[in-house]
Amino acid sequence: MRIDIVTIFPDYFGPVDPAGRVGEAGPLGVSLIGKAGARGDIDFRVHDLRRWTSDIHHTVDDTPFGGGPGMVMKPDVWGAALDAVLAEAAASPGAAASPGASLSSGASMSSGASMSSGAAVSSGAGESSEAVVSPEVAAPARLVVPAPSGMPFTQELAAAYAAERHLVFACGRYEGIDSRVVAEARTRMVVDEVSIGDYVLAGGEAAVAVIVEAVCRLLPGVLGNEQSAADDSFGGAGGAMSGLLEGPVYTRPRSWRGLEVPDVLLSGHHSAIARWQRDEALRRTAANRPDLIRRLATAADGLDKRDRQVLAEAGFPVDGETMAH
Ligand code: 6GU
Repeated sequence: MRIDIVTIFPDYFGPVDPAGRVGEAGPLGVSLIGKAGARGDIDFRVHDLRRWTSDIHHTVDDTPFGGGPGMVMKPDVWGAALDAVLAEAAASPGAAASPGASLSSGASMSSGASMSSGAAVSSGAGESSEAVVSPEVAAPARLVVPAPSGMPFTQELAAAYAAERHLVFACGRYEGIDSRVVAEARTRMVVDEVSIGDYVLAGGEAAVAVIVEAVCRLLPGVLGNEQSAADDSFGGAGGAMSGLLEGPVYTRPRSWRGLEVPDVLLSGHHSAIARWQRDEALRRTAANRPDLIRRLATAADGLDKRDRQVLAEAGFPVDGETMAH
């Protein structure tokens, strides 16, 4: 998978070399994601938006039409940045290649096919000068624009992104990016405006770090234990904990500061353990996310009889008119 990030704060993502590759520090360089990057499973590229400015001050923003506070990011700068990043990715072999991409850009893909997937087109040179393929040919990539006004980023969307070959993130700052940038991009690629929660960040960079982490841990080989993704809170469809938050977990010692590990977990009785874990997940979900319980209660196979009993005992009746709101 190839992931391009365009930002006015490339340093947010750690040390970045002239070709845009990230170093071994920062949110893309450490832990399992860092290892996936080092292996070449993920090709991260971070780009400074100011590279595509044309004035002496490297201006990326301007005052909003219609008045109001703050500044709006300029469409010409963003347009040039996205054109160049898409073109460069299409001209690069390997990570961003997809069946769709090779259909529409056969010549450029095959010309680079002998290069290893991590190789730069010509390392060190400015990316815009390498943009030999037109942006139309460079599709398909999926453009993600983080914004508090976007649709909610969910585990489902993370799974959809994990199936993509190429993601491009456009980090806005100030009051956002001129709306025509997304409108124009939508004429040539899939574009998602996404929010990571009901609060306002100063810019999209932290949201991108969050989204990239949620996506990358779903890639084959990134997590190590493939089962742990399915068992997570919000675990994929069909898992025992589907739609529920994860319950409490324990390790040695059995007794710590007067607190004991629940006996059932030491019993070796697998079905009893699974039932206890589901009971705990239901209690925790009812306490922390009653909205998720309501969603399960209205799904055909969401809650069984025992589930409803556990929830009633916890003070969250979910039958008919008595359902907690
Ligand atoms: Cl994706 N961006 C910004 N700036 N603020 C946010 C957000 C994104 N999601 C929640 N708040």
